[in-house]
Amino acid sequence: MSSPYSDKVIEYFQNPKNVGEIENPDGIAKEGSPACGDMVQLHLKVNEDTQEIEDIKFRSYGCASNIATGSIITEMAKGRSIDEAKEITWQQAADELGGLPAVKNHCSVLAVDALKEAIRDYEEKHGLVEEQVPTTIEVAKERLKHVMNPIHGLDVLKTNLVEDIEIEDKVITVTVDLAEDHQFASAVKEDIKEKLEPRWDIEEVIVKYRE
Ligand code: FES
Repeated sequence: MSSPYSDKVIEYFQNPKNVGEIENPDGIAKEGSPACGDMVQLHLKVNEDTQEIEDIKFRSYGCASNIATGSIITEMAKGRSIDEAKEITWQQAADELGGLPAVKNHCSVLAVDALKEAIRDYEEKHGLVEEQVPTTIEVAKERLKHVMNPIHGLDVLKTNLVEDIEIEDKVITVTVDLAEDHQFASAVKEDIKEKLEPRWDIEEVIVKYRE
């Protein structure tokens, strides 16, 4: 049977590089694909003096295309400055892999989005985001689009896991539709805090569970 994948995709799928996690990463992303419900996680270590990506690791819960793209973008990004790495596109990653079947483009988009989001996470945590837009409900929702609902592999907004968001006096309260003793409750809480705590005008993030 002929394969829809290039030899390079198959090689990277079978022997992916830079798989895993980094202890105390400087930037983190977990991105999910609305097209297929798969997920990819990416960790970065950045040299604060040079702003170069010193280490990068990923874990994919997606298909062969996603694993191969995750692998190739880690190689493309390693050693580059965060500004250079931000410019890597899914098309470049797909070209580097010798092409991907058109129906699989969203898989490489997912991996590249994870790289961009991990860089953004690093920049937010280090006060490098220039526009100091005040945190409104809309801004908070934009950030929460990058928190995955582990039950579905899609974000917590799309899956209605977030019931309410309130912002008052630099405190943001997010109510989630999960019981406190649910197996994913603490992971979701941690991810929500992770995305909102770096906001420059937020001092506390409270996550409330279903009563
Ligand atoms: Fe889901 Fe490829 S089909 S990541």
